[in-house]
Amino acid sequence: MDISYNINNNRHNISIEKKLSQKFISQIEQAKSDKKILLIYDKNIESKFIKNFYELLKLSGCKIFLLQLEGNKSNKNEKLLFKILDFLILKSFTKKSILISLGGGVLGDVCGLAASLYLRGLIFYQIPSTMTAMVDSCLGGKTAINYKKIINSVGSYYHPYHVYIFNDLIQTLPNKEFLSGIPEILKCGLIKKNKIIRYLNNKKESIIAREFEIIKELIVESLSTKIHFFQNDINEKNTRLYLNFGHTFAHAFEMSTAKLIKNDYLRHGEAVGIGILCELYYANRKSKQIDIVQKILSDFNLPIKVLDENKYDSKLIQKIQSQTYKYIFLDKKKINNNPRYISLKKNFIPKTEEMKNNELIDETIFKFIK
Ligand SMILES: NC(=O)c1ccc[n+]([C@@H]2O[C@H](COP(=O)([O-])OP(=O)(O)OC[C@H]3O[C@@H](n4cnc5c(N)ncnc54)[C@H](O)[C@@H]3O)[C@@H](O)[C@H]2O)c1
Repeated sequence: MDISYNINNNRHNISIEKKLSQKFISQIEQAKSDKKILLIYDKNIESKFIKNFYELLKLSGCKIFLLQLEGNKSNKNEKLLFKILDFLILKSFTKKSILISLGGGVLGDVCGLAASLYLRGLIFYQIPSTMTAMVDSCLGGKTAINYKKIINSVGSYYHPYHVYIFNDLIQTLPNKEFLSGIPEILKCGLIKKNKIIRYLNNKKESIIAREFEIIKELIVESLSTKIHFFQNDINEKNTRLYLNFGHTFAHAFEMSTAKLIKNDYLRHGEAVGIGILCELYYANRKSKQIDIVQKILSDFNLPIKVLDENKYDSKLIQKIQSQTYKYIFLDKKKINNNPRYISLKKNFIPKTEEMKNNELIDETIFKFIK
C-alpha cells in the first residue's frame, strides 16, 4: 500500500505498482462482493494491457463483464452515464457488485457518478490511465458529467474503495496524455511545500523519460497534497477550494474553445497550466511566480497561451475572448455573483478570493489568449 486515507471512518487505499500483479486480486477478494464485476475501459488504452488485465481479473473467480467506452470531453455527458446505468440494470448488478473504471479523468468521473447513483452505490474501483487521472482525478470522490455544456454541472461525491495505478499504463501513454498531467502536479507543488517544484526543475530528463521511481514520487506527492486539502473538507467549503487553483480560468477556456473550435482543443491539464498563469496575473501583474510557472510549462512543452495567433483569425480570437469572459461567471465557487479564484501569497500560501475587477478579468484573458 502506498497511500491510505480515511473518509467517515472508512479506510481508502491507493497502490502504485511497477507491474500488474496478483495483489489486485486479493484486494478484490477483500471487497466481499457478489462476485460480479463490470470493467469499463477506455477504447484508446493499449489492447495488450486490457488483455493482460482481463486475464488477471479472471483469477478472482468473479463473473466479468466488459464495456469499452471512450473518454474525451465530448463524451462526458448524460448519454455515456445512461449507457453505463442501462448496462448495470440489464445485467442485474446489485449493491454488492463491483464497477471498475479503467480510463482517464472523463471515464473516472462518469463511472464514479454511475457507481454513486446505481442502487445508491455499488463497490467502485478506479484504475486511472492518463497522467491527469493518476495525479488528480482518481481520488477525492468528485464525480460528474458536463450537462448543458457546462463543465461538471451535474455530479456527486463518491469515493473509490481502492485506487490502483500501474506503471505499464504510464509507459504506454501517448505523450499528450502523459504531459498534460504535469500542470496538476505543478499546482500541488505551488499550494503546499513539498518536493514537486524542485523535481520539475531539476529532474526534467528523468520525468520525460518516465523513470518509474521519479514518476511514482511525483504521483505520491501530488495525491498526498490533495488528501491534505480535501480530507477534512470533502464538500469543498474551505481548504479543498485551494485545489481549484487555476481552474476558474481553465474551465472558461475549455468551454469557450470547445464551443468555438473543437471539443478536445485543450486537454483539461493544459488549460489548468494556463489558468494558473491567469490567476497569478490577476492577483499581481508583476508576480515573480509567473516566470517560475512559465518556465516549467515551457520545459515540458505545454502551452502558455490558449491560441496560436498565426493559426486563427482575429475575429475568432475575439469571439473566444468574449465567450471566455462570459464563462468565467459560471464559476461554481462564486459568491455574491462574483467568481472566485485562488491567489498565492509570496510564501506560496493559497487563499480563496472573489474576483471583483471585471476589467482585470478581461485584461487577464486577453494577456493569455494568444
Ligand atoms: N474528479 C476530479 O477530481 C477531477 C480532477 C481533475 C480532472 N478531472 C476531470 O478529468 C477530465 C480530464 O481527464 P483526462 O485528461 O484524463 O481526459 P480523458 O479521460 O478524456 O483522456 C484524454 C484522452 O486520453 C485517452 N486515453 C485515456 N487513457 C489512455 C491510455 N492509457 N492510452 C492512450 N490513450 C488514453 C482518452 O481516450 C482520451 O482521448 C476532465 O473531464 C476533468 O474535469 C476530474
